[in-house]
Order: sequence, then C-alpha cells, then structure tokens
Amino acid sequence: DWTPASFIETTVKELKEQLKDDKVILALSGGVDSSVTAMLLNKAIGKNLTCIFVDHGLLRKNEFEKVLADYQDMGLNVIGIDAKERFYKALKGVTDPEKKRKIIGKGFIDVFEEEASKLEGIKWLAQGTIYPDIIESLSITGMTIKSHHNVGGLPEKMNLKLCEPLRLLFKDEVRRIGLALGMKPQIIYRHPFPGPGLGIRILGDITPEKVRIVQDADDIFISALRAADLYDKVWQAGTILLPIQSVGVMGDERTYENTIVLRAVTSIDAMTADWAHLPYEFLAKVSNEIINKVKGVNRVVYDISSKPPATIEWE
Ligand code: XMP
Repeated sequence: DWTPASFIETTVKELKEQLKDDKVILALSGGVDSSVTAMLLNKAIGKNLTCIFVDHGLLRKNEFEKVLADYQDMGLNVIGIDAKERFYKALKGVTDPEKKRKIIGKGFIDVFEEEASKLEGIKWLAQGTIYPDIIESLSITGMTIKSHHNVGGLPEKMNLKLCEPLRLLFKDEVRRIGLALGMKPQIIYRHPFPGPGLGIRILGDITPEKVRIVQDADDIFISALRAADLYDKVWQAGTILLPIQSVGVMGDERTYENTIVLRAVTSIDAMTADWAHLPYEFLAKVSNEIINKVKGVNRVVYDISSKPPATIEWE
C-alpha cells in the first residue's frame, strides 16, 4: 500500500543504490516539488547533493531572499545565484510566450553549466518533475501544449544523467511526502509557481518596471489571501499585467495606465481548474489597494475563466 512513509523509505533506498557516491546537482525553484526532491536526496546522499537556486528576476517580491533562508534552515547545501540582469537583457523586446519560455529555460541551462563547471565531478541532475509536467509536455496530435522548461533540455546539454524521484506523483502526494519529511507548512502549501515565473504573467515584452508592477500587485493579492484565510482554499493565485492601457481618473487628472488581472483557481492537479469564487468584498479590497498603492495601475479585473477551455496562466 502506498503511504508517504513507505514512498520515502523505498525511494531513499533506491536513490542510495542508484547514486552511490556520485555527486548530484539540483535546481531549486522555491516550489514544493523541487524542495521535496532535494530533501529526499539530502536524506539519501547528504552533502553529495548541491542545490542551485537561481534568481531570474521573475520571482515574486522578496521571494529569493525568503526562500534561500528557508532552504538554509532545512540543512540543504544551497548556492543562490543572482542572475536578474542577464535574464532581463536576454528577454529584452521578446513578446512571444514560447520564445520567452525558451530564453528563460536556456538562461537556466547557461547559469547551471557555469555553476556545475565550478563543482568537481557532478554526474547527475536531479529535478522535481511530477507526473502532470510530463503529460502536459507530451505531444498531442503532433503539437506540444507548452514547453514546460523543467522537462528536457538540461541533461543532454550538460551530459548528466537524470534523476527524477517524483515523476510518477501528483502534487497532493508530493505534499504528503513533504509533511512526512517534516518540512515547514509554508513550503509544503506554497502555491505552484511556473518555472518562467512572472515572465509569463507579463503579457508582451518584459521590462524591470513591469516586473516591479506585477510583483507589487501580486504581493498585495497574495498577502490579502493569507490575511483572509483564503490562501489555502485556492490552488494557485497571482496577477497578470496586460499590455493594454485604459483611461481612468485620479483626482482631477485623467490617467492612461495599465490593467492588472487577478487570477485565482481551485484545482486538484492543474489539469482542470475552476476560477475561485472569492468574496466580492475581498476582491473590492484587493482592487482598491492595488490601484492606490501600485504606481502605473488604474484598473483591476478578475478572471472568471475555467480550464478548459482557458488555461491557468495567460501565456
Ligand atoms: P496552464 O497555464 O497550462 O498551467 O493551465 C498548468 C500549471 O502549470 C504551470 N505552468 C508552468 N510551470 N513551466 C512550469 O514550470 C511553465 O512553462 C509553465 N506554464 C504553466 C501553471 O502555473 C499551472 O500550475
């Protein structure tokens, strides 16, 4: 019978047999999947695991500093890399969603190669790939739905063997394993966040100023969800910056500013999702706070589309 404890026992044993004294590198993303993968490997091979946590400049507000501190508390051997400027430079002027994903994915590969080459004798790349990542990347009638950047790419380029201990699991199973490993609830119940981060929540081209807007709006939305005890009732939430300005009025002044979309969904595995029926009073409060505090935004809208036919992200 499958239980988190039996999965941990079997997996740690298998990892020990498979990896022996080999050195492993792992990309931490701040999410539950890569964190649980790291903890399992830490249990199996200890200091032979080196984790790399890259700030591509498209993380949530202050997320890099907060998450890095959490990982260090968990006893992981983790290197934090600030690569913001190089990602902004590579993304400059790029508007196509799949191109953005590819550039961000390649940026990761490049940062990884650089870091891995500084370490001696790395043989394996571990990844927190879970089952839905794999099926969403499979081609259906010859068309890839989305190139999820944590599937494919890295290992071939770096000549590393791939280790993906969670590849047959769904998110809820990964969370149960994390809890059984004694990980903090803030990490276990952190909402899923896409690898390309805010890069696919800024429609159109990415600039540091747009990142600032979407980070500030997102921070207000997520903090409000937590304060209203709604955070754990939704699967995932965030804000999207549209490449559209619209007319507004502030004081006696006409404004012509940006639109922020609030997106919150309920789901069990991200394969299907329903828009979250958040209370009107809550939405009103978040809308006011964003418009009053985030410079450059004069309109907030709520996305009431379900998946399918919409997707959770807008790109
Ligand atoms: P969609 O938008 O396809 O998203 O309904 C389903 C889930 O996948 C996440 N997502 C991604 N995760 N790289 C990732 O690592 C990506 O390129 C990517 N695109 C979407 C999304 O946040 C949701 O949880």
